[in-house]
Amino acid sequence: MTLTLRRPDDWHLHLRDGATLAAVVGHTAERFARAIVMPNLKPPVTTTELAAAYRQRIVAALPAGARFTPLMTLYLTDNTSGAEIARARACGFVHAVKYYPAGATTHSDAGVTAIDKVHGALAALEEHDLPLLVHGEVTDPAVDVFDREAAFIDRVLADVVRRFPKLRIVFEHVTTREAVAFVRSAGPRVAATITPQHLLLNRNALFDGGVRPHHYCLPVLKREAHREALVAAATGGEAQFFLGTDSAPHARHSKESACGCAGVYSAHAGIELYAEAFDRAGRLEQLEGFASHHGADFYRLPRNDASITLSRSSWTVPANYPFGADALVPFRAGETVAWRLQPSGGR
Ligand code: DOR
Ligand code: ZN
Repeated sequence: MTLTLRRPDDWHLHLRDGATLAAVVGHTAERFARAIVMPNLKPPVTTTELAAAYRQRIVAALPAGARFTPLMTLYLTDNTSGAEIARARACGFVHAVKYYPAGATTHSDAGVTAIDKVHGALAALEEHDLPLLVHGEVTDPAVDVFDREAAFIDRVLADVVRRFPKLRIVFEHVTTREAVAFVRSAGPRVAATITPQHLLLNRNALFDGGVRPHHYCLPVLKREAHREALVAAATGGEAQFFLGTDSAPHARHSKESACGCAGVYSAHAGIELYAEAFDRAGRLEQLEGFASHHGADFYRLPRNDASITLSRSSWTVPANYPFGADALVPFRAGETVAWRLQPSGGR
């Protein structure tokens, strides 16, 4: 069986930099026409000027013949000015600003220390109609790690949505039924991305026969009832939910460590894994909206013209991919993926 879709986009992606950027960008470019590129480099991409230079490095790292457009983002800090947001809006290649609570995840130490410190910047985003992308987890160590997303809604996000009534917001990588319900209740100017791992796995996958560092990401996998709520949201044809892999490559040794980094690498099968999840739900006909329509419409960008074709034919994922001087262990390493991208796809 085959499935032909309008070419999809990845609305949440980590590409890193240098040799590691070159190692991964081809996987995304093979499948997706565009991707929202996260700004959590070290140092972070905090200005339009830094985003322009990073954009150039991404384009230079693309394999010959690739047709792929990186959509850049800025990293919000306590000091982001209204003037910087105006510059970002005017440049045409910055499409959003990402809010990381300081300390919430990988390379987030330059993030926002308290939401009221960025009220001015959020007003500027609202004024210039530039979307705010949110890593929605509180960092309070007193809150259980599995409850940090739900607590973020109550302590931070509900107030932001009320205070800035025209601000467009993407609640990134939602993982709970509370987040799904919140997005629905907030109406069309609030949307959410959903990752393949949160559609395919519940938190048991973290401890399946032993600790599984390659299933560890933030927000962490949740219990089955939450996974079911995410599948219903993704496959229900609702315009507020769209594809964002959150593919987040880390060198093997930094994952397989006494204190392993958060991040699941999925770009090598970035559309195929969603096809699997939608197929399991009996909702393959909803994949195109989720992968190729809803995100473009939310970001007010044209839908892509080209198409890709997937076939239901399983293949074995390599044990690892080269990653600069290191190796990268992909999602499903050494195991099978049920859907395959036909080679001519997207070209
Ligand atoms: O698991 C994650 N990895 N979550 C994030 O929010 C960041 C990402 C990364 O950059 O590795
Ligand atoms: Zn991310």
